[in-house]
Amino acid sequence: MTAVGGPEVLVSQQVPAPRPRAGEVLIRTEAIPVLFPETLLRSGAFPFPAPTPLIFGMQAAGVVVEIGAGVDAALIGQRVMVASNSFGTYAEQVCAPVESVTAIPDGLSPVEAAAVTMSASVAIPLLETAALTGTETVLIEVAATGVGGYLTQLAKEYGAARVIATAGGPVKADRARELGADEVIDHTDPDWPQGLPEILGGTTIDVVFDALGGDSARTLLDLMTPVRGRMLSYGWLSGAPAQVTAMDLIMRGLTLTGCSGPAWLAGVDRSRATALTRAATGSITPLLDRVLPLDQAAAAHQLIADRVPVGTIVLQP
Ligand SMILES: NC(=O)c1ccc[n+]([C@@H]2O[C@H](COP(=O)([O-])OP(=O)(O)OC[C@H]3O[C@@H](n4cnc5c(N)ncnc54)[C@H](OP(=O)(O)O)[C@@H]3O)[C@@H](O)[C@H]2O)c1
Repeated sequence: MTAVGGPEVLVSQQVPAPRPRAGEVLIRTEAIPVLFPETLLRSGAFPFPAPTPLIFGMQAAGVVVEIGAGVDAALIGQRVMVASNSFGTYAEQVCAPVESVTAIPDGLSPVEAAAVTMSASVAIPLLETAALTGTETVLIEVAATGVGGYLTQLAKEYGAARVIATAGGPVKADRARELGADEVIDHTDPDWPQGLPEILGGTTIDVVFDALGGDSARTLLDLMTPVRGRMLSYGWLSGAPAQVTAMDLIMRGLTLTGCSGPAWLAGVDRSRATALTRAATGSITPLLDRVLPLDQAAAAHQLIADRVPVGTIVLQP
């Protein structure tokens, strides 16, 4: 990554191979997911936390080929998923602290592990936090891809009785239905919440999984179950977090739970092994869009900017 900017800042270059320091493992990568939040960092929409140029990328599936001092030698040869805040995964080899790797269970391919890891390990703590009762109606925004795609797959197992979803366009709406949504609204219409009362038919929404944020979040409050309704705010694809005041919530007896920040992300880290085990045992299906060669990273970022993928793009060295 040569600078903060458009997809073109991601270029293919030969660089020296990394060497593991104390407490690190060296991983030969096999499958590297391209993550939506990475595109926000690359573009500067979120402040970029490191000097450039650097090797971009936050996750990869691969095999441990070397260890640094103090690391258990039994790890050599193990298949692992690395999730690293210090970047470096868009590469044939990456060094990472041993605590940032999770074993990939037998039966799950590196591409599947790469596709599933981030989004499913966010969806699981969101569903745990929602504490659904078995009779509740949920609204899952952006339900065909990413975190929303795994929320939609798992919502009924975690206690949703009815799943209403949003998706962008007919292809993604069909995907959301395949994943478990009972009804789907197209969120590319800025007035999409106005379609909800007809679907709800006088009932209310108990839990909103809010990926869009912005003004639509405030509109939803009047459609939520008074006193019991919960909004879990984890994204702001609209460009702004949920535009909701304390007074908006207090006067309706609603709860907004912020699902971001370091303590939240520590819970996401703890869910990674569960996400991989669930994918290996078939209780969630990895959502893969396509596999591209590693040197096509810029093209992958452009596809995400154009909202083309229906699932994760995975890069292969
Ligand atoms: N708090 C956390 O722990 C956490 C972790 C991961 C991600 N996130 C956040 O959760 C949100 C979803 O992330 P994800 O990884 O699950 O994404 P994703 O579903 O893989 O990709 C983003 C999708 O958002 C939809 N979208 C709706 N409005 C958009 C807009 N204005 N610009 C671009 N895309 C738009 C697009 O689908 P359509 O074509 O259907 O509109 C696109 O496919 C993001 O805000 C992300 O930053 C939060």
